[in-house]
Amino acid sequence: MKAVIVCTSVSHGNTRRIADVMGQVLAAPVATPEQVDPAGLAACDLVGFGSGTFLGSFHASPAR
Ligand SMILES: Cc1cc2nc3c(=O)[nH]c(=O)nc-3n(C[C@H](O)[C@H](O)[C@H](O)COP(=O)(O)O)c2cc1C
Repeated sequence: MKAVIVCTSVSHGNTRRIADVMGQVLAAPVATPEQVDPAGLAACDLVGFGSGTFLGSFHASPAR
């Protein structure tokens, strides 16, 4: 299974710590939104997205 986790972690690194553990279990790379080619995600079986919550919303970068 080809998996990737895309996450942004701008405040305390909390989301990244969780994503790194999930990535180890899934044998999946963890990348920032800036590091991934959106077209390449179509070749993945599983794509996870992660962000902290800021004033009731996810960080804007994963939605670009
Ligand atoms: C400016 C600011 C606003 C926040 N707003 C919320 C919020 O509305 N709801 C919530 O549950 N947590 C909120 N938090 C807590 C963050 O979502 C939490 O610290 C999260 O772990 C940050 O993720 P990161 O360290 O990966 O960036 C806020 C934190 C900051 C710094």
